[in-house]
Amino acid sequence: MKFFVDTADTAEIADLAATGLLDGVTTNPTLIAKAGRDFLEVTAEICKLTDGPVSAEVVALDHAGMLREAEILRKIADNVCIKVPLTIDGLKTCKALTGEGTMVNVTLCFSAAQALLAAKAGATFVSPFVGRHDDNGFDGMALIDDIRLIYDNYDYRTQILVASIRHGIHVLESARIGADVITAPPAVIKGLFRHVLTEKGIEGFLADWAKTGQSIG
Ligand code: G3P
Repeated sequence: MKFFVDTADTAEIADLAATGLLDGVTTNPTLIAKAGRDFLEVTAEICKLTDGPVSAEVVALDHAGMLREAEILRKIADNVCIKVPLTIDGLKTCKALTGEGTMVNVTLCFSAAQALLAAKAGATFVSPFVGRHDDNGFDGMALIDDIRLIYDNYDYRTQILVASIRHGIHVLESARIGADVITAPPAVIKGLFRHVLTEKGIEGFLADWAKTGQSIG
């Protein structure tokens, strides 16, 4: 399963990229606003921090406008992945862009039927939002299960990119189901490294090591 980080904070991205475990980055207008930086400039910087796909979202709602914005965004770098909303115009844009070899991430997916349409439109990635699904009384992970089943039934190549992840259990469940990618905030990814027994174990080993009076090298 690939790990993308959901942020436009370049310091956080660089930090995670240094682990060698980062496969890509996703952004959205909210994350760009939070970063407080120029959209094109920060996207260009992010594209240099990873070789993997960097999702940059259009804000136009109509097909022509989306294509115009995508044209600007895809010139930033070869690893830019155009993010479009799951609407009729978004999927028209998806079809056109993937037909030209541009990666597309279809976002704001909240049903398996929508995910089926994204696959038919040739999406590179589909982003079901599990956290927001849960927040609204639905079962986010059941949605991922359904999409996996449907994509496997027809051998669709569209990658399931589990988004709106709130905690490690979402990550674990995504892996159990066989999702292709997860995107999570830096804090959630960093949390995956930690375990209280790992920390306790290190503490114990260091205390015992000190008693030996030795040093390595
Ligand atoms: O980038 C899309 C998605 O991950 C947003 O997550 O936490 O705003 O629901 P959230």
